[in-house]
Amino acid sequence: MVKVILDNITKRFDDFAALKGVTLEITDKEFMALLGPSGSGKSTLLYTIAGIYRPTSGRIYFDDRDVTDVPPKDRNVGLVFQNWALYPHMKVFDNIAFPLELRKFPKEEIAKKVKEVAEMLRIETLLNRYPWQLSGGQQQRVAIARALVKEPDVLLLDEPLSNLDALLRLEVRAELKRLQKELGITAVYVTHDQAEALAMADRIAVIKEGEILQVGDPDEVYYKPKYRFVGGFLGSPPMNFLDAEVQDPYLDVYGNRILIPIQYRELVKKLGVRKVILGFRPHDAEVVRGVAEGLVGTVYSFEPLGREQIVTVSVNGASLKVFAPEGEHFTFGEQVTVKLREDRIILFDKKTEKALEFLEE
Ligand SMILES: Nc1ncnc2c1ncn2[C@@H]1O[C@H](COP(=O)(O)OP(=O)(O)OP(=O)(O)O)[C@@H](O)[C@H]1O
Ligand SMILES: [Mg+2]
Repeated sequence: MVKVILDNITKRFDDFAALKGVTLEITDKEFMALLGPSGSGKSTLLYTIAGIYRPTSGRIYFDDRDVTDVPPKDRNVGLVFQNWALYPHMKVFDNIAFPLELRKFPKEEIAKKVKEVAEMLRIETLLNRYPWQLSGGQQQRVAIARALVKEPDVLLLDEPLSNLDALLRLEVRAELKRLQKELGITAVYVTHDQAEALAMADRIAVIKEGEILQVGDPDEVYYKPKYRFVGGFLGSPPMNFLDAEVQDPYLDVYGNRILIPIQYRELVKKLGVRKVILGFRPHDAEVVRGVAEGLVGTVYSFEPLGREQIVTVSVNGASLKVFAPEGEHFTFGEQVTVKLREDRIILFDKKTEKALEFLEE
């Protein structure tokens, strides 16, 4: 049970900078998701916390202890690798027991702890099998059990659910979230799956090209994205973006005039910005028939999802996705208006793609 502090961490591989000054504090017992696209540096950062990589510069602290030069085995971290290599010649029991054998725990205690953790992960009936006799999902759970059995201070998970089918993923992610809180372990969870990060984490750190763009709880990063990238990476479908031009007190959006959202009126004046990007989430708008106040366009497509449907509306060449209730029937090409929920609109600076409220940071 510790707090993890990353202080201006850089990591270079030859002349390539995989991490470019990462500063992040993960509080005691927190579930932190590291979310970013492939190649953004997630695994590199995780292995740096584990001690497998030494940072090129910067320091790492577990509580007040500087662990930057401490080898992995003395950090008491549990690590589940992206490719969860189990020892192929060992049965499941011995795979899980291995970290305790290394520490010379007494036999009875090992048996007890392995049983406990296997029950938690519902693999207690598999202890006598070899890894090749397990499904991918079972292997993944054995890898998690092996990381948990030594009761680590910090649990580091690198895409641990990537090999599970969609249903099992949902089930295990709920279990893992509960387990982490029950055990009270500080956890860092690497994923490129935004839904997983939103569902599991206390806070999410969004990483892109070796830099953390935003850290916040799921609501914050979802509703208050600091960058266009964050709004476009979270949510399914993600945020809609439209180029807009300030013509105080209006925004010109592809030939439509809408009032500058009330929360931005002062700021737009103060900053004197002209070219902006208007962002809104598919749930924060509605599609109404005919021409009304809002963004006028035509129905390009519609996709029923059960309880609701996604309507794609074409507005002077721009394509928007908006949720609509299940019962409503649309036809291809019909004229509609997308009405935006004003308080949920985010305006980004066109040049830096940063939300206006963070522009002066
Ligand atoms: N040992 C290494 N030597 C050279 N370059 C590396 C090394 N490890 C990682 N990189 C590079 O650093 C960048 C970040 O890699 P990393 O594995 O951290 O990405 P990731 O976010 O985990 O991606 P993924 O989601 O695909 O696993 C990539 O461009 C990668 O090619
Ligand atoms: Mg990775």
